[in-house]
Amino acid sequence: MRDNEEFKLVIHRKKRTSRARTNCLSNVTSLDNERNDDSNINCETLLGKLLEAEGELENSSFLDNLLHDLDDSLAALNVNGIPDILCYGLGQFSSRKSSKYQLALLLRLKKYYKSQVYVYDPVFSSAEIELLKRFDCNTIKVNEEGKRVVRDNITLVYMPHCSIHLINNFLYANWCEQLRKCILLTNSFSIVADNTKRTNRTNPIDYILRIQPYVTETVLRNDFVHEEAFNDLNIHTFLEQNIGTLPESFWNERTEPCYQDAETDYLTAKQTEKIDAADKAL
Ligand SMILES: C[S@@+](CC[C@H](N)C(=O)[O-])C[C@H]1O[C@@H](n2cnc3c(N)ncnc32)[C@H](O)[C@@H]1O
Repeated sequence: MRDNEEFKLVIHRKKRTSRARTNCLSNVTSLDNERNDDSNINCETLLGKLLEAEGELENSSFLDNLLHDLDDSLAALNVNGIPDILCYGLGQFSSRKSSKYQLALLLRLKKYYKSQVYVYDPVFSSAEIELLKRFDCNTIKVNEEGKRVVRDNITLVYMPHCSIHLINNFLYANWCEQLRKCILLTNSFSIVADNTKRTNRTNPIDYILRIQPYVTETVLRNDFVHEEAFNDLNIHTFLEQNIGTLPESFWNERTEPCYQDAETDYLTAKQTEKIDAADKAL
């Protein structure tokens, strides 16, 4: 991802708070490697930038195509709406260009489908959380490590450029036929599977690899002007005709992922608890 950010930030969070989090985040690879000082973020400026980004997206063929593809996916699933959107790993949208456009997309989807949105990223600053609330998004308070269980409503699970371990965790938590209620807008499973095969790595992302042959992956036409915001993101659906015939044993083989020897690239609940405790102590 290429991101050289532009606009001035907010943050009412104490500077020392973000330093504690930065120190911890620096131990985790592939995460945003900079948190911003919350003290200078101007919420109104940020709001303006987001509305501008939404406008750019609104006028793009990328959004038209994406909505068309999502509507097709809903038709294939025989459902007619997306009541809930769950979003993990958006990143710091006050400073990262990709995250800003990814949030703009989230807000467009929310409006289009009239969805409830639930969002979490451990790097959100307090100002970013406030802004998300102003956009009527529900901010998740605890680090679920991607393991929210979706049962009742059709849910769009939006995890843009997220850790494959987090995606794997989500699949583990929802490992049953009810997976057909989830539409995943996230890193291409086929690319993840190819990369795993090519590098011959023993990667404990079993759930992605096991479900991949039964996933319907719709490749997005990424012609958005800021192409880095949405590259390699595809729509993944689990159709009745593909997963409905899998034997019970397929679903029963389900143990909690353990990434002990792997380099995980997300923050665990333990890590965020530690950071929060350090923040409080400062
Ligand atoms: C590679 S970055 C992607 C950021 C942004 N979406 C982009 O495309 O630039 C991965 C994101 O996952 C977030 N993340 C790490 N641990 C997480 C967790 N347990 N739950 C949700 N998000 C997490 C990181 O803070 C980071 O913002």
